[in-house]
Amino acid sequence: MSEFKRISKNRGFYVKMKLLNRHGGRQDNKSLYYKYFRWVLWISLSLYFFSSYLISTSPKTLSLSKTTVSASKPTSVSRALFETNSKLLQKPINREIINPSSDIPRDLKIYIYDLPSKYNSDWLSNERCSNHLFAAEVAIHRALMNSDVRTLNPWEADFFFVPVYVSCNFSTVNGFPSLGHARPLLASAVQLISSTVPFWNRSGGSDHVFVASHDYGACFHPMEEDAIADGIPEFLKKSIILQTFGVRFRHPCQDVENVLIPPYVSPEKIQSTIQTAPNHGKRDIWVFFRGKMEIHPKNISGRFYSKGVRTLIWQKFNRNKKFYLKRHRFQGYQSEIRRSVFCLCPLGWAPWSPRLVESVALGCVPVIIADDIRLPFSETIQWPKISLTVAEKDVGKLAKILEHVAATNLTIIQRNLWDPANRRALLFKSNIQRGDAAWQVLGSLSKKLHLSYRQSRLLTQ
Ligand SMILES: *[C@@H]1O[C@H](CO)[C@@H](O)[C@H](O)[C@H]1NC(C)=O
Ligand SMILES: *[C@@H]1O[C@H](CO)[C@@H](O)[C@H](O)[C@H]1NC(C)=O
Ligand SMILES: *[C@@H]1O[C@H](CO)[C@@H](O)[C@H](O)[C@H]1NC(C)=O
Ligand SMILES: *[C@@H]1O[C@H](CO)[C@@H](O)[C@H](O)[C@H]1NC(C)=O
Repeated sequence: MSEFKRISKNRGFYVKMKLLNRHGGRQDNKSLYYKYFRWVLWISLSLYFFSSYLISTSPKTLSLSKTTVSASKPTSVSRALFETNSKLLQKPINREIINPSSDIPRDLKIYIYDLPSKYNSDWLSNERCSNHLFAAEVAIHRALMNSDVRTLNPWEADFFFVPVYVSCNFSTVNGFPSLGHARPLLASAVQLISSTVPFWNRSGGSDHVFVASHDYGACFHPMEEDAIADGIPEFLKKSIILQTFGVRFRHPCQDVENVLIPPYVSPEKIQSTIQTAPNHGKRDIWVFFRGKMEIHPKNISGRFYSKGVRTLIWQKFNRNKKFYLKRHRFQGYQSEIRRSVFCLCPLGWAPWSPRLVESVALGCVPVIIADDIRLPFSETIQWPKISLTVAEKDVGKLAKILEHVAATNLTIIQRNLWDPANRRALLFKSNIQRGDAAWQVLGSLSKKLHLSYRQSRLLTQ
């Protein structure tokens, strides 16, 4: 119902937009006004009936996109920016849970640009795009689209979300995303929005939100040296970046207003692991790690993968029966995490790893080996209570350290870890649920309202 009200306020906006981009003369204004008024009225009414329908039935397959998309056939780029993205909305909408919570300011409003599909939904033709470890860019977009903080009226928005997927161009050689196109694609999106609508220019982009969910965040390069050399693109430096990369010291790739987010792990996959591998509280693997451990790490321009930490783990504990170390990929690795007491989360090229999320979600105590790593949502998740941190230099003493914990406080850590709130906070659901990862992002954004152009105007009025 609130959508109905919001939409009708939109009228002025659509007219302004059109005036801004007008190609014809002034004499068109009246008829344009009339045309848009009719158009908006049409949408308002259909939304009204649509939402009544939503309330009176319990929708399973209905998609909002059908209503809006058929209402407006794109005629120009600026119009396309304001149409609802059809692919993303095909997920069912559950009215019960989209209302975020009282902890997020009720009036927090986010406008989502509807960019042409080449910036986002085209990439979804590859199924991996919405499921791999960098897929937070897709997950957050989806969650926001389905959420109540979304506004269709950019004039009342506190923040502007720019949905560009840059992590889905997977290399045919190694399967990792090739990030070469990330900068130009983002630059072109910014060019598009800044030239067609006034919201970017009026704030210099400071209330615009982007996701940079790969190794070195907004530096868009998987190798630290190149990432630092490239730096954060000039046009993003004033914006808010939701990123998986975070360290406790000053680093050029986080030298920007940012919110640290967890890497993406599919909540459905976690759920199915829990269902298909019930462990009845028994964990028969003591220490688990599966992943790249080079026996002779290559020296790549002066750097070694994982700073040699993973090599040392392999060398020292490979023959230790209590350590279950595997160097090869295995689809069913989540069931191994489920069977394990301690799960090693050593750095790779970047300090963060999806193992952190999977360990917490499956109740295996994460052993973080990545000096100075900053962990996501540390205001909500009490990381010291649910994980262990081992300094990179101490990795050789891992067995001793873990023995000690097992003999002293392991039970307490496991009990803390099994609090469902922790699991929830690290997983992105397609409909925002109270306490889930997207909900945490909204909480963090609501603490950055001073960056919002609209809010700063409200304060000075
Ligand atoms: C994807 O990556 C390849 C290899 O880096 C590159 O040649 C290609 O142009 C990229 N595709 C797009 C659409 O950016
Ligand atoms: C925003 O500023 C740029 C550069 O000054 C300009 O080219 C563009 O037309 C402006 N956009 C709008 C919508 O006025
Ligand atoms: C790694 O290679 C660089 C040159 O790329 C060299 O300066 C450095 O000494 C090498 N480091 C080791 C430990 O071999
Ligand atoms: C458990 O013990 C370890 C090592 O003695 C210590 O570093 C850690 O802070 C303790 N954790 C909790 C939750 O008590």
